[in-house]
Amino acid sequence: MEILETAAALQALTEKWRREGRSIGFVPTMGALHEGHLQLVRAAAVENDEVVVSIFVNPTQFNNSEDFKLYPRVPDSDAEMLHGTGCTALFSPSVEEIYPRPTVLQFDFGLLERVMEGAHRPGHFNGVATVVSKLFHLGRPHRAYFGQKDWQQVAVVRQLVQDLSFDLQLISCPTVREADGLAMSSRNRRLSAQARAVAPRLYEALQLAVECLQQTKQPAEAQQAALELLGAHSEIEVEYLEVADARSLQPLPANAAVGQEAVICVAAWLGGVRLIDNVVLSLT
Ligand code: PAJ
Repeated sequence: MEILETAAALQALTEKWRREGRSIGFVPTMGALHEGHLQLVRAAAVENDEVVVSIFVNPTQFNNSEDFKLYPRVPDSDAEMLHGTGCTALFSPSVEEIYPRPTVLQFDFGLLERVMEGAHRPGHFNGVATVVSKLFHLGRPHRAYFGQKDWQQVAVVRQLVQDLSFDLQLISCPTVREADGLAMSSRNRRLSAQARAVAPRLYEALQLAVECLQQTKQPAEAQQAALELLGAHSEIEVEYLEVADARSLQPLPANAAVGQEAVICVAAWLGGVRLIDNVVLSLT
């Protein structure tokens, strides 16, 4: 596994691979790797000759500077975890390398970012779109891998790829969970023992909402049921819990039809740590 720290080095390597006709898979991450990340890397290794993993805690996507400071950074164990996964190049640049000058370009994803993460974290998707565009230009991947854990991020990146004609295939992979249902996240490392103990309630609430939505076809009832479950735990402070159309991400109207693809998304604070999760379903 090659370790690269400069944009020029990554560009030179991926240009060489392209000339040699080798296919390139790209997995962008912010590090503090876990099994969810590694599944993306393994999927990329199955489908591509070369796999680039980037580890870059991107300052422009944090709307809260404290969150940026506290974001876990464990470069040595990250590099170790990548051994044996099929990763052939690890790109871990400095902030100055990616942002030699402040960026001014602004993205607007319209209705896609007026809801959920976009609505609650102003500027977040602008930062994601900026860094993902830079990484795609430097890594020149044939395929890029993202996790469904960040469902709205996948929707935004899909729009980015389409609108800017990035010549790559976007592949989204299922959410990887702990045995008790908690979605794996780099932020889970920051949970206190008490917060970790109640964290699986998030997924339970989503599953309850799925059941209720399937039965009643009423998004408001599903939302209510999930909020009631979470309301029983004073350690959990819900920021939003939305029942939406899986593609447009706009709120699902009452009396949803059979065949409707829906996503139920939650964001909540547990003792100072913000977690998100979602489940996707097709109404039957
Ligand atoms: P990060 O949170 O490190 O996640 C990197 C990738 O791993 C994302 O595509 C994310 O959806 C995926 N992922 C995280 N947890 C997962 C899980 N439990 N199961 C499956 N996939 C999971 O998302 C980012 O970084 C950044 O916004 C980034 C795209 C790198 C841009 O800075």
